[in-house]
This record gives sequence, C-alpha cells and structure tokens, in this order.
Amino acid sequence: MTETAWRERGRQVLARPWPPMLRDAPELRDGAAPWFFTGACGARLVDEDGRDYLDLEMGRGPNLLGYGHPVTRAAIAEHARLAVQTSLLHRAEVEVAELLVELVPCAERVVFAKNGSDACTAAVRVARAATGRDVILSSGYHGYHDWFMAETGWAEGFPAAYRGFVHGFELNDLAAVEELAERHAGQVAAIIVEPAHRLLPAPGFLAALRRIADRAGAVLIFDEVVTAFRLHLGGAQGYSGVVPDLACLGKAMSNGYPLSALVGRREVMENLQKTFFSMTYQHDSLGFAIARACLRHLRDSAAIETVAAHGEAIRSAFDGAAARHGLPARARGFSARLDFDFPDLPGLPPDAQLALFRRTLLDHGLLPVRAAFACEALTAADLAQAAAAFDAAFARLEKGS
Ligand SMILES: Cc1ncc(COP(=O)(O)O)c(C=O)c1O
Repeated sequence: MTETAWRERGRQVLARPWPPMLRDAPELRDGAAPWFFTGACGARLVDEDGRDYLDLEMGRGPNLLGYGHPVTRAAIAEHARLAVQTSLLHRAEVEVAELLVELVPCAERVVFAKNGSDACTAAVRVARAATGRDVILSSGYHGYHDWFMAETGWAEGFPAAYRGFVHGFELNDLAAVEELAERHAGQVAAIIVEPAHRLLPAPGFLAALRRIADRAGAVLIFDEVVTAFRLHLGGAQGYSGVVPDLACLGKAMSNGYPLSALVGRREVMENLQKTFFSMTYQHDSLGFAIARACLRHLRDSAAIETVAAHGEAIRSAFDGAAARHGLPARARGFSARLDFDFPDLPGLPPDAQLALFRRTLLDHGLLPVRAAFACEALTAADLAQAAAAFDAAFARLEKGS
C-alpha cells in the first residue's frame, strides 16, 4: 500500500491523522510531505513509498542518540525476553534512579512516569503538598494537564475554577518574578521554569530565582524535560550550577521510549506520600532497561559533545545561508535545540517564509521541519545535505517565491 492509501485509511479512524510536526502546517497536510515511516535509522526515516528523508527534529527531542541506535536496540532485544509490566519491580528501576542521582545535581529521590506532563504535574502537586499553598509562578511550557493549560487560554475544555493560580513570566525577566512574588506573598507554592529554550538563562538569572524562591518559602522547580542530557549531562542545573528543589526529566532520557521522572531533594520529595501520584505503567521495566543503557552511554561517551557540535554545524549552516542571501533569519536556542526564526520582512511575513522554507527542504530530501534537535547519529553527509537545502531555501526566499 502507498502513502496516499495509508493516509486515507488513517483519516477514517484517527482523530488527528497527520504527524505532530505538520499539525501547524496546513499547506503541507494534504501535500507532498510524508505521514508514515516504515524505516528509521540514524537521523533518517523512510516513508511508505520507500522515499528516504533526513529528519532534523527527531520526534521533537527524545531521540538524542538517533533512531535505532545500537545501544538502545541491544537493550530492547535483551529485555524483550522478559515481561514489561508485572506485579513486581525490576532492578533496572533502581539502577536508573541511581544513575539520575549520580548525574542530576538536585536528585536525591526519584519517581518515574511516562510523559513530561506527568512529571510537571507531579512536581507542582508535591510543591503544593509541601507548602500548603496554591499559587504557581511559571515560565515556559509544562505539558497538557489542567493545572497548566487552564491558565493559558490556548484551548477549550478547562473549568474556569482552575484559573487564577498560575502566573506567567518570561525567562530572564527578573523584575516580573519579583513583582509576582511580592503580589502573592505567603501564597506561592512553587516557581517552575523551563530553564532554556529559545533563550539561554542570562548570567545570574537562575541564581536569582533560587534566592526569590527561598525568600518566598516556595519550591524551585526546573522543568528539564528538554534540557536534561541535551543541554548538559546534568541538565540546566549542571550547566548553570544552580540547584533547584525539584526537576522534571523526560524526552532524551531513554532515546525515544516513553519515560519521564520527577527528581529532587529528599525532604521535598517525601511530600509525595501526602499526595497522590500513581499510574499503571509507572514501573514499565522495558523503559528502565532502555534508559539504563542510554544514560550509561551518555555518561561514558562523548555523545553530548557530539550532539552539540552537530547542532552548531546546523546553526552555522542556517545562519550562514541566510546571511549569504541577505536575509535576517536566525537559528535561536542552544546547540542541541534550535528554532528556525523568520523575522517580519516587507512582503514576506514569517509564515510565508516558513512555508517556502519547508517546501524547499522537502524538495531536498529533508522532512519539512521548523526546528532542529540534533542527534548523535547525524553524519557529515547528513549535515552537508542540510546545508545545501538551507542554501536553496534562502535562495528562494531571496527571490520571494
Ligand atoms: C519543557 C517541556 N515540559 C513539559 C513538556 C510536556 O511533555 P510531554 O509532551 O512528554 O507530556 C514538554 C513537551 O514538549 C516540554 O517541552
């Protein structure tokens, strides 16, 4: 069966049949971009028609090593002989928790979950149980659960009664955090921050958050769902030296297998006993076998440095191509997590630029992405292919069509 046939079958039964990265690309939903993969190796995917693509987004972050990496493939093969979900724990759960305690500065105790959203919700719940307070000061995205989404106004389906507890601030806007902490004095349970995204934290910003949280008697939470292992082996806390009370980990921990964790200081984590945080697949032993292999590999090899070097190669290819064609587009963010940013230009707004950019990537055998999450497996040929595609895309943008 062809790609087109599978799309038709998908449309009959799936509520949202297109791939997540094309959700915001209406011009591509019915067009030439692939929806399904039949093969995955390194940074490449093969679609149902047998066409091969370079993937710079890697499922939006989890696949830090690459698809079908020998380290995680061997762990899956070995563990597949056993059951995944049983009535008992598997020792790999302890070993992964030990690795997290070794690698992540704030981690003294660990509890596992499946999604980043779970870990963030658990963190907020623990902070509320620890302090007996409700208010959360928040910067960044923390998942799809009600405590966070109700406040954003991005979507329907959340009770109005859930609003009024979460107050947002921008990364590096210290004055805003101070003002919020003062306005809600005695009520702040936690400050939760995504410590690096399109911006790195300004020098001193995370340390200042630490001081504000301490002064307010609030729990400091780093949402490291993206930054853990991608920015640094110890996450943003390893990178900055600022140690939060709790941290939410996910994505890169198990190279694409669904697993997340809440880690933190023992006294704060003990509040888990007072609240409720439980799910059927919390002790999925296959996930632990994969994470154990992945974390050992990250600790014992130069994988994280390799990923950063690949990310820098992508950044310089993107920025260099834009500059050569006289355009102010830039790759923003840290090396292992870049956003392709298209500023407003006369006659060519960012959306139109992005659409033309994505079309050209596709013509050059790349998935039509808007961000780059570099992986260890990227080859020199992959990077050269990306650079050529960026150059062709900016040549079209310069022409305006
Ligand atoms: C910083 C951050 N926190 C939390 C989440 C939610 O994670 P998940 O989608 O695995 O629930 C995401 C997802 O992209 C994220 O980027």
